[in-house]
Amino acid sequence: MPQLNLTHVRPHFPALRDDVVLFDNAGGSQVVRQVADRITDFLFTTNVQLGASYGTSAAAGRKVTEGRAALATLLNAERPEEVVMGATATQLFDQLAQSLVQHWEPGDEVVVTNFDHEANIGPWRRLARQGIVVREWELPEGAVAPTPESLAPLLGPKTRLVAMTHCSNIFGGINDVRAIADLVHEHGAMLCVDGVAYAPHRAIDVQALDADFYGFSVYKTYGPHHAALYGKYDLLRHKAGNINHYFYGEDRVPNKLEPGNPNYELAYSCVGVIDYLEELAAAHGINAKGRAAVEAAFDMIADHEAALAERLLAYLRGREDVTIVGDPSSDRDARVPTISFVIAGQNSRDVVEAVDPSGIGIRFGDFHSKRLVQSLNLGDPDGVIRVSAVHYNTLDEMDRLIERFESLRRQAA
Ligand SMILES: Cc1ncc(COP(=O)(O)O)c(C=O)c1O
Repeated sequence: MPQLNLTHVRPHFPALRDDVVLFDNAGGSQVVRQVADRITDFLFTTNVQLGASYGTSAAAGRKVTEGRAALATLLNAERPEEVVMGATATQLFDQLAQSLVQHWEPGDEVVVTNFDHEANIGPWRRLARQGIVVREWELPEGAVAPTPESLAPLLGPKTRLVAMTHCSNIFGGINDVRAIADLVHEHGAMLCVDGVAYAPHRAIDVQALDADFYGFSVYKTYGPHHAALYGKYDLLRHKAGNINHYFYGEDRVPNKLEPGNPNYELAYSCVGVIDYLEELAAAHGINAKGRAAVEAAFDMIADHEAALAERLLAYLRGREDVTIVGDPSSDRDARVPTISFVIAGQNSRDVVEAVDPSGIGIRFGDFHSKRLVQSLNLGDPDGVIRVSAVHYNTLDEMDRLIERFESLRRQAA
């Protein structure tokens, strides 16, 4: 696999500058030019309501369909109807919960973790108001990844669904979703996966994971502020209720889960993410389109990201006063370059605010994985320091950050 050429990558992101370094990408990534171009194209040529018989309306409909198909390609869904679109991953998980519960009985059970972003916890917990029993899956002391063994005792004949994340937005670790999906399916339950922290870094493959539902945010994956939720077609058709207008039948997949329609221009602009990944592959001598280009591009991305992660992790591992919150190795199969840590005797907020004047954007907090950060008992009211890189970051940028940490350490000594 060729090495990622950053001279090719960076001009595709007009917002990137040399004097500002963005390491808060797990909060939101920069957008590729092709995405913005497609938003403009939609608004300037086809900004009409869908579903009418005149030509412009039909053209607008085709563009939204193209956008849904692009998301299906990113997810490796079998068909575009398996993609529900919405504003945010949080909203889509909530809509899914409200839809599935229509087919459940009081006393049915869901399993949620205490170690993930609240987006895929809260919507399921709130079902308790409708009589659904909520079971909490905790990480064993010191563990940074969930295992089938820790989940097994929580599963039973009444379990309807397990909610988990593909990649922690704190630990940065990639979880073995397939092993967990197999266990969940043995119990006749469904698995809903939060892929928000994974999607910017690796090619998602919902079929290989055998996930029943899988959501991610396109605004963290080089696209617009838009989100996608995959669901297996049969489950969307038969296990999910209608949360749209009463006259939408249960066979209206996926529209019955998209109350009031998704945003058209943002949906269409998702095609720009595929344009970019295809161009990236081509610029590296790989002649691939669609899904093949997505896989080739993310393969190159993974190697570069592992180098970025290693640069920072090597530095952090060498500091006796630092505790890495997550896997200290940079293995591309085990983690993404979302790196959290705490420094003994220093408040996370103070460290981050001391970095701010250098024009490097990092961040402190719990990142809405509040239950996890509370359970880790870090003793710091401001949570962890998080440096989250993506493929457009350079090793030079990482070195600048490390230099900054070093000068702060010298000042503190
Ligand atoms: C792992 C994870 N899940 C979910 C979300 C929420 O995504 P959205 O803003 O699309 O609801 C985030 C945002 O930070 C996240 O990191």
